Amino acid sequence: MALLRILFASLCFPALFVSISGRAPPGAWDVFNYAPTSKTVYPTAIHSVSGSVQNAQGLVGNAGSATINGVGSWVALDYGKEVGGLISLNFNTITSTSAISLSFTESPSFIRPTASDDSSFPSENTTYDGVLRVPAPLKTGFWTQPASALRGGFRFLTIVSNANSPVTISNVSCAISFMPHVQDLRAYSGYFYAKDPVFHDEDFLTKVWYAGAYTVQTNTVAVNTGRKVPFASAGTWANNANLGVAGPIIVDGAKRDRAVWPGDMGIAVPAQFVSTNDLIPTRNALSTMFAAINPKTGALPESGPPLSQLGSDTYHAWTLIGTYNYYLYSGDVEWLQTVWTNYTRAVAFLEGKVDKTGLINITGLRDWARLGGGGYNAEGNALLYKVLTTATTLANALNLTSLSTSWSHNATALKTTFNDAFWLESAGQYRDNQTTSLCPQDANSFAILFNLTTSDERASRVSAGLMGNWGERGPEAPELPDTVSPFIAGFELQAHFESGNDERALDLLRRTWGYMLYTNLSVQSTLLEGFTVNGSIGYRSYRGYNYDSAYTSHAHGWSAGPTPALTTYVLGLMVVSPQGKTWAVAPHVGGGLPAAEGGFETPLGWFGAKWTLATGGGKTLMVQVTTPGGTEGEFVVPNGMGGTLTVDGVGKGVVQPGKKVPLLGGARVVKLVA
Ligand SMILES: *[C@@H]1O[C@H](CO)[C@@H](O)[C@H](O)[C@H]1NC(C)=O
Ligand SMILES: *[C@@H]1O[C@H](CO)[C@@H](O)[C@H](O)[C@H]1NC(C)=O
Ligand SMILES: *[C@@H]1O[C@H](CO)[C@@H](O)[C@H](O)[C@H]1NC(C)=O
Ligand SMILES: *[C@@H]1O[C@H](CO)[C@@H](O)[C@H](O)[C@H]1NC(C)=O
Ligand SMILES: *[C@@H]1O[C@H](CO)[C@@H](O)[C@H](O)[C@H]1NC(C)=O
Ligand SMILES: *[C@@H]1O[C@H](CO)[C@@H](O)[C@H](O)[C@H]1NC(C)=O
Ligand SMILES: *[C@@H]1O[C@H](CO)[C@@H](O)[C@H](O)[C@H]1NC(C)=O
Ligand SMILES: *[C@@H]1O[C@H](CO)[C@@H](O)[C@H](O)[C@H]1NC(C)=O
Ligand SMILES: *[C@@H]1O[C@H](CO)[C@@H](O)[C@H](O)[C@H]1NC(C)=O
Ligand SMILES: *[C@@H]1O[C@H](CO)[C@@H](O)[C@H](O)[C@H]1NC(C)=O
Repeated sequence: MALLRILFASLCFPALFVSISGRAPPGAWDVFNYAPTSKTVYPTAIHSVSGSVQNAQGLVGNAGSATINGVGSWVALDYGKEVGGLISLNFNTITSTSAISLSFTESPSFIRPTASDDSSFPSENTTYDGVLRVPAPLKTGFWTQPASALRGGFRFLTIVSNANSPVTISNVSCAISFMPHVQDLRAYSGYFYAKDPVFHDEDFLTKVWYAGAYTVQTNTVAVNTGRKVPFASAGTWANNANLGVAGPIIVDGAKRDRAVWPGDMGIAVPAQFVSTNDLIPTRNALSTMFAAINPKTGALPESGPPLSQLGSDTYHAWTLIGTYNYYLYSGDVEWLQTVWTNYTRAVAFLEGKVDKTGLINITGLRDWARLGGGGYNAEGNALLYKVLTTATTLANALNLTSLSTSWSHNATALKTTFNDAFWLESAGQYRDNQTTSLCPQDANSFAILFNLTTSDERASRVSAGLMGNWGERGPEAPELPDTVSPFIAGFELQAHFESGNDERALDLLRRTWGYMLYTNLSVQSTLLEGFTVNGSIGYRSYRGYNYDSAYTSHAHGWSAGPTPALTTYVLGLMVVSPQGKTWAVAPHVGGGLPAAEGGFETPLGWFGAKWTLATGGGKTLMVQVTTPGGTEGEFVVPNGMGGTLTVDGVGKGVVQPGKKVPLLGGARVVKLVA
């Protein structure tokens, strides 16, 4: 297969399709891959020094040694991007009183000798975690931080002297702890590449695709490296808790919470699929949730152990939706069968909360941080709809046709009831519940994305309405004031593409992720959990995070929405049935980009595409797509691009936007002259 691909590539599309098995083709995009070349990394710069520090530069790139002298003197090292893992160093020269401490932080705002940023617990003093003390007497030679004191995510390390004598150190490395099962962290199975003609950085879209991919890598961890619960006492932290039934496992964030959260996976896993196709950590996370089902009620936990948070109907729904996503990408029907009994009980748990109105009454109120949310709530009902439509597909896959029909019937009924209950004609959006006029970002994004809208016109109105929440840095969620949630914005991003508003989607992408990726309050490599409307990193300050902006995670997989969105919508390449046995290429070319290329891999092989849009005079769209032989797909004629179509040089006549043109697997060339 790989050989054929290379052979064909060299005949037809030199740069694009050369690929060795398990690896995306090399190209101009590789310089934007944030993953380190080695699993042992060294500082790339000195951020700052204070007091008496000699030859701090010696610590950069392991060039030499540095000497820190006197209580409170320190050097802040910059690893250049988000990293995580155990620090090792060499004590070259010490005295009997020499002692140091280490403090870690993601954001440069919390570089300080007295405390790390927070991960154990949010505290208004921002200093709950404290420092890692390495007390006297030290020993000369090689030293490694205790495994329980692992910091899973940081960019800056401050080394402080705690003695009135000099200590000389060298070889300050970090042994990367994430992706423990993978040797070459840069060996991605997918790629994406496009130039942005509008943004201040023309490589923004490519960078943000790789930032999302790297963020998810930093969230893929060994099963025995979870945050300790009950939380470590003040002044300490510990990341040595068991996270589930098997590892490696996908968690919500690199620094914290370091636990399985199924809602977060609704974004992180599609990002993982198109970039690394590293789905075992996802299977382990889902297995962990099903193993912890309440045997009496069928309720799934909101999060994995050791947190094992209970009481969230929406996150319960996300485990079920995630089951579908995992099956779609992997085709792992054997695993599906192992969880099927618990899966059906968990669907029945939600269906049991549907009352005579036909709506689910949400009583497990915990959620992604939004306010409100109980009772007949639009977001909860939208998620139930997605559960039912995906359950329909899964039951079909297992040949359980009458169950499938029953779930499908209930989904159809819910769609009608949803529109009757929540549509607010005066707003052109869905309201949060029947006693409010607040139109939330989550349910409105879901309504488009999950196909709850009853017409294209209604979807367009919702998309336009969502824009009403926007400021300079993107949407303020009405259901969580003063907050930009890149998690929910990741669904909104898809909703704008889905409703055909490509330019609006790219505008949102540039505002929200264009802020996150470049702001010097963050790590400029992975994507933070959220921020306030004015751009501060005090995400959720008033909503559970105790006004502790040091607690915010700067590497949160739920913020990786652009990675799957760029592949699925801008490039337009997606799997339709498991492993891409059927697929579609539906480029969204209305955003003003001249070209895009990329692809991903499934167990069936390589799926790649490249398009260019020439706009002199008329518009000519050229799409090259290559998919495994034996698969079948379709080309979807883009919005505003009705015209004359040829496939592999054979005329197919005049086609209208939205028209689906069947394509066989293999290498195809589609040309559309509008
Ligand atoms: C970020 O940049 C601004 C403006 O250049 C500067 O004032 C501020 O100190 C920087 N903040 C950090 C945390 O580096
Ligand atoms: C910060 O506040 C926490 C309580 O939230 C307290 O336990 C801790 O001692 C405080 N840290 C410092 C350095 O005062
Ligand atoms: C420097 O650190 C590396 C990585 O932690 C280690 O393998 C090596 O042995 C250390 N060098 C010395 C001279 O101790
Ligand atoms: C299904 O749920 C039961 C509890 O009812 C649990 O013991 C079992 O391990 C679960 N099965 C799987 C495959 O998770
Ligand atoms: C209805 O939604 C509003 C806005 O989100 C919220 O404040 C209110 O609590 C909700 N009502 C119920 C019954 O949950
Ligand atoms: C939802 O269920 C709860 C718990 O059973 C109940 O107290 C509440 O009244 C119900 N809400 C509605 C709108 O029926
Ligand atoms: C479903 O039925 C088809 C056709 O009979 C069969 O090929 C397939 O293996 C069945 N799938 C399962 C999971 O039993
Ligand atoms: C469909 O909905 C009805 C009415 O709410 C319910 O009794 C039934 O259990 C649902 N079917 C399935 C398969 O969940
Ligand atoms: C959306 O739902 C309608 C029925 O309400 C259905 O006809 C249509 O095929 C669905 N679209 C997709 C893409 O599933
Ligand atoms: C930004 O907003 C936060 C809370 O929303 C506030 O505490 C902070 O003072 C604001 N910062 C600026 C620079 O206005």
